[in-house]
Amino acid sequence: MAPLDPHALDSEAFLEEVHSFEFWFQAVEGYLSERPYGHRPDLPEPELGDTEREGLITTLCSYCVGETIALEGASSMVGFAPNRRQKIFLATQVVDEARHLEVLLHRLLALGVTDPEAEIARRGNRNLLAFKRRLLEFVAGKDWEAALFAQNVILECMEFTVFQSHARTADPLTREVLEGIVVDERRHMGFGENDLGRRLATAPHVRARLAEVRKELDPLVLATFEETQSALGTPRANRSTLGRDYLATVERLGFDA
Ligand SMILES: [Fe+2]
Ligand SMILES: [Fe+2]
Repeated sequence: MAPLDPHALDSEAFLEEVHSFEFWFQAVEGYLSERPYGHRPDLPEPELGDTEREGLITTLCSYCVGETIALEGASSMVGFAPNRRQKIFLATQVVDEARHLEVLLHRLLALGVTDPEAEIARRGNRNLLAFKRRLLEFVAGKDWEAALFAQNVILECMEFTVFQSHARTADPLTREVLEGIVVDERRHMGFGENDLGRRLATAPHVRARLAEVRKELDPLVLATFEETQSALGTPRANRSTLGRDYLATVERLGFDA
């Protein structure tokens, strides 16, 4: 029998740890138990003007579409994830995405939207819906690399960038909700980065495949940003920052175009 490589064992033990519900529970315990629906209960509902409120509702509706994509994608990917550890991590992600959707729906109700489902159907971002169709095709084809890349790199980088940027200008209550979501999205990005990073190291041809997926999905991401920022009333001159931040985040994870 070949001797055990302690380095391999360390990295195995590390991977086992970061993909576990134990790790997940320690990560979320603090901010989940003290923030029902994603914010401290004593934070007052902000006074918003009509235009600001309308813009926020449209934006939150798009966020709900994004979270639903991740919820449906991650839950379906459990079925064809290559190993048990990945299935367990995806199960933690399913819980996170369902919680994100729940807190955003709750936020819509608090803003006076009586039927959030109908509002999401009416206002949901069309580019994001096109993104959803494509991701679910990868999922239906059990195409692990494309589905994981579309979901845990592209979609997560998109959400991470938008939520982080929106949190800077949002009212205090919405900011707290978004900041709680961003922490989870960072964990989800880490999963995609780690799994696909190892594949790129051992099978360099995967890079060409991922670049193809990016070429197809990046335009939908950038168009989604444009639509979201127009709803938020961001001046046209300032809109390119979000796209640049998104592209930089994807590159930083090690996936060049
Ligand atoms: Fe999410
Ligand atoms: Fe996520």
